Amino acid sequence: MKDDYEINKLKGLLHTKWAGRQLFFYESIDSTNKQASRLAGANVVHGTLVVADAQTAGKGRHGRSWESPEDKNLYFTIILKPDFEQAKAAMITLVTAYAVAEGMKKTFAQENATLAQDKKPWIKWPNDIIIGEKKVCGILTELNINAKDPKDWHILVGVGVNVKDQDFPEEIIGKATSICGETGVTLSRSKLLADILEVFEESYEEFMRKGDLSSFQDAYNEILVNRNREVCVLDPKGEYTGVAKGITNTGELLIERTDGTVTEVYAGEVSVRGIYGYV
Ligand code: BTN
Repeated sequence: MKDDYEINKLKGLLHTKWAGRQLFFYESIDSTNKQASRLAGANVVHGTLVVADAQTAGKGRHGRSWESPEDKNLYFTIILKPDFEQAKAAMITLVTAYAVAEGMKKTFAQENATLAQDKKPWIKWPNDIIIGEKKVCGILTELNINAKDPKDWHILVGVGVNVKDQDFPEEIIGKATSICGETGVTLSRSKLLADILEVFEESYEEFMRKGDLSSFQDAYNEILVNRNREVCVLDPKGEYTGVAKGITNTGELLIERTDGTVTEVYAGEVSVRGIYGYV
């Protein structure tokens, strides 16, 4: 390993109660989500973390691949074995996005690195984190349900964060960036992962306590890049534009339409694409 990114360093930095306490670290794996899926059937506990330095078949959303070179980025999956109803699983993506953005800020603060106002991380509802209008993080949440026993199910939350400076392939150069590429700061991947997991654990516990996102809904809306911006909703029933007003306590995006009515957009049902550049 070329930097401090290895299992013992990570274990030493993790101060969580359950998130990441069981930890699998690979120098290279096909995909941490795939590996998590293989492990999840076995005797792994809620909060198990699967981390890799490189992925050979990183999975993005909508069947896309996820660029996963070695020695550059975070690729990890958290296995959750919750006791809430499956319908609530979509909210976990929002909990995770919030944790990544806040975890990133925590690492910057602890390393005394200044994060300029225009370089702060923002959430692009529901799955991405952006800095300076380009994507630094994507989240792929998958539900694994045992066909023979539907009560036996778990969630795989896969997160990729572009950390160090790097060249991106031609097809994504216009919309992908890294934390270092935007801010000039190379964060410790171990520290960043530990900070993200700490915020994740706190936020997840709040989510469980309330049964929804209300504990950090306002804080989420403060860092929601779509907020008060015009968005185009690609609803299969018909595309429309409106202004995003924030999320509800269950994670839907509120869209104020030109006639003044407000609609709730569900993650997964529609895509939201801004009309100013990528956002
Ligand atoms: C997206 O398309 O925006 C989601 C990308 C998710 C990538 C991460 S990297 C770690 C985990 N393992 C995978 O194979 N994918 C997710």
